[in-house]
Amino acid sequence: MSDLYINLQSIQALYDAEIERLAVQSGKTLLERKKEDKNHVLGWVDTPISMQEEDFLRIERAASTFSGCDFVICIGIGGSYLGGRAVIQALGHSFESYRTTHKHPQVLFAGQNICQDYLYELMMLLQDRSFGIIHISKSGTTTEPAIAFRFLRDLLIGKVGEKEADRLTVVITSPFSGALRTLANQKKLTALDIPDNVGGRFSVLTAVGLLPMAISRIDIRQLLNGAKRMREQCLSVAFDKNPAMRFAAARYALYMSGKKIEILATSTPKLHFFSEWWKQLFAESEGKQQRGLFPAAITLTTDLHSMGQWIQQGERSIFETYVTVDKCRNNLTLPLYAEDTDQLNYIAGYSPNEINRQALIGSQMAHTEGEVPILEVSVPELNAYCMGQLLYFFEFVVAIGGLMLKVNPFDQPGVEAYKVNTFRLLKRPGY
Ligand code: PA5
Repeated sequence: MSDLYINLQSIQALYDAEIERLAVQSGKTLLERKKEDKNHVLGWVDTPISMQEEDFLRIERAASTFSGCDFVICIGIGGSYLGGRAVIQALGHSFESYRTTHKHPQVLFAGQNICQDYLYELMMLLQDRSFGIIHISKSGTTTEPAIAFRFLRDLLIGKVGEKEADRLTVVITSPFSGALRTLANQKKLTALDIPDNVGGRFSVLTAVGLLPMAISRIDIRQLLNGAKRMREQCLSVAFDKNPAMRFAAARYALYMSGKKIEILATSTPKLHFFSEWWKQLFAESEGKQQRGLFPAAITLTTDLHSMGQWIQQGERSIFETYVTVDKCRNNLTLPLYAEDTDQLNYIAGYSPNEINRQALIGSQMAHTEGEVPILEVSVPELNAYCMGQLLYFFEFVVAIGGLMLKVNPFDQPGVEAYKVNTFRLLKRPGY
């Protein structure tokens, strides 16, 4: 299996010995804190090696609950849905929902917004189709998913009765406490754990991400093998051998040089939700105490026809992190026409992937000329092993990055402010 390639050539000159020392120190601090893990937030570091065969089997058994269903509605928000959705999109068929036959239940998502029409239209779709529910919430009390769960559970009970609805409902939550755990115990629902020492946005490699992936027939063992491979490299305290440390040093150097926005530029729309996962991971982990890079994302080449203008000539406060994919799963070659009216014969015989690659290089050249520094992570191909590496890599980068910025990468106190206001406005008792 091939490894990710991290290209930092263009900016290596940017970081000096002091930044290198800070990155190494932050990596050491992380590993030191992990030994005791007083705040119970560093379980994710070992998730790739702590998953046992019985954990995989438990997840696969839960996934098989839904065999025969047309849909599984995955209810959750933030870290409780983005990772699973990212991998399903990256490895699934782009037009799965339009295909006439499906080899597995389709996973749809709810509870990540409070849009009435979204919920209503989903319920209309489900009225005459078979479905099951996964409710993912570590706290068990998050408003958006709790609202969706009420509606969808009522719908399911109305369709199949309470006993069967209980069988078709799986919850993933804190092992010991919370409203969802209480419900699971009362109703004897199948319940999987979010380990107490793994925070929401670091939970993709637990049942949170793995169950929706398993339902979509993604090889979760290979995903964890990829993460394990990346873990071996990220645990090294030798700067040159540790891709996450080097990457974090480069981002920090760029931040300190006045680049305040990091744009993740992915080479395929299949990584759209990976970008969403990445944005949440970086925004919630680094953006505090009035510090931190603002994480933005574009898809190439789509956004070169919109955001490209700003990137090329707007305020020079940005750098880009390209995530490119080398190989495609399917073959296509641009046909040669006898009459070259569309004037494309000069690239006839090329695959769209080769053309995309040249467009990416062209955009990198243009952006570099426009004084936009570029980091690049190149992924050999979109498969479970590489996705595991990619997810773990960025988790480690953000952990070191947060420590370098001297913020706590594992809390999100700012997320509470809007919730308190909303509860007050809705007159929730106690607010
Ligand atoms: O990273 C985090 O902790 C958050 O983004 C949570 O994942 C998100 O707020 C959902 O929380 P919960 O799983 O408790 O419903």
